[in-house]
Amino acid sequence: MLAALALCAYADWEPLFNNPLPFVFFLTLFTVGTFLHIDIGSSSVLTLNDAIGLAALLAFGPAFGAAVFLVGMMIHIIYERRVIFRRLVFLSIGIVEFFIVGLVYFEVLNGYKGLAGGPKDLLAAIVAGFVLWLFDRVSAFGILAAMGVRAMTSFFNKLKPYAVSLPPLYIWGMIMSFVFHNGGYVFTAVLMVPLLVIYAFFRNQKVYQDTLRETIFSLAKMIDARDSYTALHSEGVAENSRKIAAKIGLSEEEVDGIYEISLLHDIGKVGIHDAILLKPGPLDDAEWELMREHPIIGANLVKNLRFLAGSCDAIRHHHERWDGKGYPDGLKGEEIPLWARIIALCDAWDAMRTDRPYRKALPPEVALGEIKKGSGTQFDPKLVPVALFVFGSEGIELKENEEEPIIKKSV
Ligand SMILES: [Fe+2]
Repeated sequence: MLAALALCAYADWEPLFNNPLPFVFFLTLFTVGTFLHIDIGSSSVLTLNDAIGLAALLAFGPAFGAAVFLVGMMIHIIYERRVIFRRLVFLSIGIVEFFIVGLVYFEVLNGYKGLAGGPKDLLAAIVAGFVLWLFDRVSAFGILAAMGVRAMTSFFNKLKPYAVSLPPLYIWGMIMSFVFHNGGYVFTAVLMVPLLVIYAFFRNQKVYQDTLRETIFSLAKMIDARDSYTALHSEGVAENSRKIAAKIGLSEEEVDGIYEISLLHDIGKVGIHDAILLKPGPLDDAEWELMREHPIIGANLVKNLRFLAGSCDAIRHHHERWDGKGYPDGLKGEEIPLWARIIALCDAWDAMRTDRPYRKALPPEVALGEIKKGSGTQFDPKLVPVALFVFGSEGIELKENEEEPIIKKSV
């Protein structure tokens, strides 16, 4: 923050005050861009202002770019009425970035404003764009590393979508800067149109995906509702799976992912006849055979949905056992996907803690004892202590980063 303040104090602001029109123009485009978020997957969002910020910098130098960035972001922060320390840190880093990239482009690579020097400038701008991306990622990593393991893992997961999505935006910024110097305000404003079209396309896709997601979860709720004894079963399993995943240090995306997939873990029961699913007494062998199909039916249902396809194995294997005596594939130990091992624990816990037609809910201490007994036979022995901690503290909200994760991702 101090570095950003120092750079602002020593920057040459005179050209900005002498001719404020370009500043107002770029600030307007930038401010519009800050409100247009594109969902690029892995819980990451991209804003169109990345292109406009670089365009401003290449067109008029680092002080100009930094001023557009600073005022534009402040407008956004004031609009959201949420001034948090982390945002101010990112804001300061952004300003330092503009000056560093300006130094690389204008001083080290001798680039001309608005790429006016020809192809040599384009190459310099590409290098500058890469430096901007690298500095942005490295500084974000530094901050998130200070925030804990989960934030760091989440950073690595987000690296790929940004590496794919940011370069085209930067190239568009370079084109905007070139067009501004050669074609003026109108042509530059026209270059916003493709950005807005891309934004509208992604937005529509998100609306479509959200609708599909809501439909699937409503279906899962309907399945739970078929059986009044297990009406809240999936939600209970999902809540505990989320807590265990967070406790063992999985990334934010994985914690959210396991919550979603746990809600759907029994979705295959849609294919099980009511006579079997709702039978008040114990099932006979033939009925069990049919009942054991539900993980396969569920996985096959979910694998056709693009946003869940990667996690359908967790559904297929949620009835596997650590000793290989589970179903449907008899997988053993770590052959069973981690998410499935977590769901298996939470599924068993929830089943024991709920009233069933043929027995009352088990008291917590008895259910905890059963989980402990199943360690190394039914359940993953490394996950059991975490599960016991989570189940034992049921009703008490776990605070994030409350303590070091007990097991790392390699479990
Ligand atoms: Fe199940």
